[in-house]
Amino acid sequence: MKDVAKEGKLKNGTKVTLRPMVKEDADALVNFFKSLPDELLLFVRHNVRDESIVRSWAANLDYQRVFPLLALVENKIVADVTLHRVPFGWKRHLGKVRIVVSPEYQKLGLATLMLNEIVDLASEFGLEKLWAEVPLDSRGAISAFKNAGFSCKAVIEDLIKDKEGRNADILIMICDVSAHYDR
Ligand SMILES: CC(C)(COP(=O)(O)OP(=O)(O)OC[C@H]1O[C@@H](n2cnc3c(N)ncnc32)[C@H](O)[C@@H]1OP(=O)(O)O)[C@@H](O)C(=O)NCCC(=O)NCCS
Repeated sequence: MKDVAKEGKLKNGTKVTLRPMVKEDADALVNFFKSLPDELLLFVRHNVRDESIVRSWAANLDYQRVFPLLALVENKIVADVTLHRVPFGWKRHLGKVRIVVSPEYQKLGLATLMLNEIVDLASEFGLEKLWAEVPLDSRGAISAFKNAGFSCKAVIEDLIKDKEGRNADILIMICDVSAHYDR
């Protein structure tokens, strides 16, 4: 998966290509983030409406630090999942996972497909555990991560802000990568 593209099929039969992001994806990624509704940007840590930020990611790709896996339908990016690694120290065996799926491609099994690939990739990278933070009230996110072998580990109350600015709870989900492959 580190170097190759994979084909998949969504629940409605749509064919999707999963592949690592390359520098030539800059324009398509800018358009992807522009197309997302404001409420989905809550889940993104940077101002991705600022093209220069997105372009700098494409120009400075370093798969050892952040591995971005894209889903494309007819050359259009429809989802982005990133695996973030810590180079040194007590978290060096961990990867953090973030995902966003375009609204028109949600509930079709795409996140599940991509997260399964990320777990495979984590194993290839020699990572032991994957970490994800999801809003406690997001049934879709919890189900998608569970489908890929993550389980619920902790809830931190009132940690995040929802779109109305109210405090909300966050759920920490972990995938034990090696145990996942021992099953
Ligand atoms: C969370 C998210 C990634 C899920 O993507 P998705 O492609 O719709 O996920 P899947 O289709 O693989 O769904 C997994 C399961 O959850 C269900 N599901 C998806 N969205 C749902 C929703 N809003 N409500 C209830 N169930 C939902 C699916 O039907 C599927 O069920 P199954 O296990 O029976 O097949 C997507 O909604 C999204 O991008 N949300 C905003 C960003 C976010 O929350 N990221 C997570 C934190 S990093």
